[in-house]
Amino acid sequence: GGNVAHPTIQPSANIITIFGAGGDLTWRKLVPALFDLYAADYLPEEMSIIGVDIKELDDAAFRKHARDGVGKFARYQEEVKEKWGAFAERLSYIQGDFSKSETYKELGKRLKERDKAWELEADHIFYLATAPAFVEMVAENLNEAALLNDHVRSRIVVEKPFGHDLESARALNQELLNICPEEQIYRIDHYLGKETVQNILAFRFANALYEPIWNRNYIDHVQITVAESVGVGHRGGYYDHAGALRDMVQNHLMQILCLVAMEPPVSFGADEVRSRKVDVLRAVRPIELADVPDVAARGQYGEGWIEGEHVKAYREESDVAEGSTTETFAALKLDIDNWRWRGVPFYLRSGKRLSERVSEVVVRFKPVPHQAFPETLASHWQPNDLLLFLQPNEGIALKMQAKVPGLGMQLGGVNMAFSYKDAFESASPEAYETLLLDAMRGDATLFMRSDQVEKAWEIVMPVLEYWQQSREIGRYDAGMWGPDSATELIARDGRSWVRPRQLE
Ligand code: BG6
Repeated sequence: GGNVAHPTIQPSANIITIFGAGGDLTWRKLVPALFDLYAADYLPEEMSIIGVDIKELDDAAFRKHARDGVGKFARYQEEVKEKWGAFAERLSYIQGDFSKSETYKELGKRLKERDKAWELEADHIFYLATAPAFVEMVAENLNEAALLNDHVRSRIVVEKPFGHDLESARALNQELLNICPEEQIYRIDHYLGKETVQNILAFRFANALYEPIWNRNYIDHVQITVAESVGVGHRGGYYDHAGALRDMVQNHLMQILCLVAMEPPVSFGADEVRSRKVDVLRAVRPIELADVPDVAARGQYGEGWIEGEHVKAYREESDVAEGSTTETFAALKLDIDNWRWRGVPFYLRSGKRLSERVSEVVVRFKPVPHQAFPETLASHWQPNDLLLFLQPNEGIALKMQAKVPGLGMQLGGVNMAFSYKDAFESASPEAYETLLLDAMRGDATLFMRSDQVEKAWEIVMPVLEYWQQSREIGRYDAGMWGPDSATELIARDGRSWVRPRQLE
């Protein structure tokens, strides 16, 4: 994103308006990220944050609530004492109904006042941290209040979920594109803001060594795992209508897939990178309805143990329907029909209440063409795996074979590893810091373009449809690695999931 194109420049004067300012995302992620950007001197002198919500708050109460979130979630805790006061002055609140034009009139007035006081024209970001049902309403009202007229200076940021299926995503795109051009719409997928996810690009395209072997001639298959140990928590109401495929696979895992599989971009311009990514999705072989049981697996967590703690079953969680058949785990096998990847399957899986929180990509290389070692030795041989550890311990490792020290020839597996923590002094920013800064700078590289969102939905639609029809769902105990059907999915190809490891 902006980090690639211009690593240090501050954005120009900016006002961020957050719709849904009373919500969890604002409290937990957005304001702490903005504070961190402030503490690290990334924000311009002229910068304001306006919260809008129906909740009855005034400026003071909004600041107090924000201060609480910053105290809990910001990275720069030591700076809070010293810098909070000056940061808080930038925060203000508008109590208003998203459906009423008065709300937008008031907002327009405030924006004008700011510009006047600053004697310039600030960029205006409208961040829609609202429930999906309000997105269109807010965008329309902003437009009617003439707040989106400047196609360069004003932007809207839309949070996920972006639609519930292909049809609704298309409709939402259509509605938004009737209001303003694509360049003004910043669709968030916070995985794209993660340091390690961006590093996939650096790893692939800043090193000469890997790209020549990054294809069907050398790679056997790829696994993408995003495992969480948390359950649905207090989000049962949303999650029970979504499920793992919609909540994680359609967006976050597809983004990772695109970065691993894309062709080298000519430049890091927003449209160039995004076009290369969407090329990957366009090449994904469409799944036939009848093939769904062969290429997709799902499961739902039952009760179990995680890190020594007993946890309840999904169906016992609050706001989850009795006898719910929503999947909390989804696995998918995708084929990419292009010159580079034909014949190399990509296995994706994600779930809640799995053994631990760990995300990683495994690139499994093909066996050596000829085993010159005696058979007893060759049976200890293991393939080369390139492991991209996305979180929590970020790094990269290459699994290799080496001679075990001793007088005879024995083979053993060793790792060549790089860990972010050891290699760099500075800690990684939170995804939202990166994304907010990019939105302020007007760099859309790390945001999703409409065609990509729709393509990703298109890919998962047959699976959603099939699962909708046949409602039986396999269970897995909380604390395990998912349902048996996921093991079988990959075993049918004579392969197995690589157990996620933490980088030591
Ligand atoms: C969100 C999902 O998009 O990503 C959540 O809605 C999930 O269900 C979260 O827990 C995971 O994000 P992270 O950054 O913790 O991996």
